[in-house]
Amino acid sequence: MIIIGSDHTGIELKKKIISYLYDRKIEYADVTNFENQDGDDYPDIAKIICTKVLENNNNLGIAICGTGIGISIASNKFRGIRAAVCTNDYMAEMSRRDNNANVLCLGSRLKSSEREDNIFSIVNSFINNFYEAGRHDRRLKKIREIENMYLKGGK
Ligand code: RB5
Repeated sequence: MIIIGSDHTGIELKKKIISYLYDRKIEYADVTNFENQDGDDYPDIAKIICTKVLENNNNLGIAICGTGIGISIASNKFRGIRAAVCTNDYMAEMSRRDNNANVLCLGSRLKSSEREDNIFSIVNSFINNFYEAGRHDRRLKKIREIENMYLKGGK
């Protein structure tokens, strides 16, 4: 399932992506507000999305803030989350194939988000590419070792 959410800056972009998912019968859960609310800061949004993504290995997240940067920084603090800011479909594709990214971070205020077709292409690449394992396993194992060294809690 796709777990999607945004801070106040990303509500309109989130709505567009939701209709894209809905039209293609892609299962999703919108875990954040549909209206602008005080206090929907990106670290809180990252927490809601990442906690849900981690419930099931097949889940992927789409996390939106103004630049995609804040929400990716916060998301990457969660053990087991590999969040990638992507501004084009090549980045989205490689984030899945090489990095096994499980959260796509998008910036609602970026030029790359102005055109719907670009955003939909990024989302499509993220959802429809898969981790290639092999030589990448060694690198992801090293990321897990960093998590074990520096992060408390989680699995
Ligand atoms: C909120 O104004 C903004 O800082 C946030 O959406 C995001 O861009 C942070 O990285």
